[in-house]
Amino acid sequence: MDQVRDVEEEARAAASQAKSTQELRDLELKFLGKSGKLTLLSREISTIAPEMRPAFGQAVNEAKLRVQEAFSSQQESLLNAELEVKFESERIDVTMPGRQIRVGKMHVLYSAMLRVKQILSGLGFQYRESPDVEEFKFNFDYLNYPPDHPAMDDQDTFYIDSEHLMRTQSTALQGHVFSDTAPPLRVFTIGRCYRNEAVDRTHGHTFYQVDAFMIDEGVSMAHLRGTLGAFARELFGEQIATRFRPDFFPFVEPGVDFAISTPNFQNGNWLELGGAGLIHPKILENFGMDSKKYSGFAFGLGIERIPMLRYGIDDLRYFYENDRRFLEAFA
Ligand code: FA5
Repeated sequence: MDQVRDVEEEARAAASQAKSTQELRDLELKFLGKSGKLTLLSREISTIAPEMRPAFGQAVNEAKLRVQEAFSSQQESLLNAELEVKFESERIDVTMPGRQIRVGKMHVLYSAMLRVKQILSGLGFQYRESPDVEEFKFNFDYLNYPPDHPAMDDQDTFYIDSEHLMRTQSTALQGHVFSDTAPPLRVFTIGRCYRNEAVDRTHGHTFYQVDAFMIDEGVSMAHLRGTLGAFARELFGEQIATRFRPDFFPFVEPGVDFAISTPNFQNGNWLELGGAGLIHPKILENFGMDSKKYSGFAFGLGIERIPMLRYGIDDLRYFYENDRRFLEAFA
């Protein structure tokens, strides 16, 4: 009987000193588990004189109950203390100012491209994509470049292999369209172009161009002037004036560079936007079109030029540096 009392005392003392619920669970196993001290004690009943057995059994059972109770009450107070600590560590200061949510905004070049898409779609041109990694023939041969044209040199063009290159101009779309679409047609694309250039304020090695062209019966320079004029007025305002000057591109005849001017900005100076002209009849013939019946115009310009002119930005490298102070000015 003394033995029962000792084990009970020991168990209760241990329970009251447990510092965590985990420790308490271990102790509970030690006393009340399958091979716990109290459990083993109740098995010793067979070694006791028969007349003592009922009293011994009762004593062990009562001791077990009291020990269980001690464990439960200790379990409760330890759990409360542990929750207290957990809640304290997770406490939220509801008076703290929130973190500001930053909403992304459209990049100034992207919104220029969207605007160009809107305007050209409104003029009846269909948008088409063409690949950045282009076959040599689409970028040069199909556009009537002579075999020794300097633009093909390694110094000017990034080559992938002898037949592939990073397109130097979005005019490369023409061959794709002429191979699968019969005139009349009006198509445009916007895409990245790549040139092995010395980078400066107005030249990047990577930049965007828009290229548009139409083919129909009787298309003339007058249509080109009318279309480019409407395009420029939509982009820059009604007061814009356009200027054409003779220029050479192998794929147009005649070829021009076109510039715009407005009293509102750049002091009325002429600012070059891009190149244009009537599609060379040889190209039409090469793609099986009757150049006596059909003619077409084409024009291409740098997308960066648009916000540069519009906002008076003097260096196109700003567009690519991802300085938020710059980009947010146009959001
Ligand atoms: C062309 O690329 C012709 N494909 C344009 C064209 C299309 C002519 C259809 C006739 C008919 P050019 O190399 O001039 O032409 O480039 C056209 C425009 O792209 C330039 O006026 C300029 O706005 C832009 N551009 C050209 N090179 C760069 C560059 N390195 N960095 C930024 N913009 C450029």
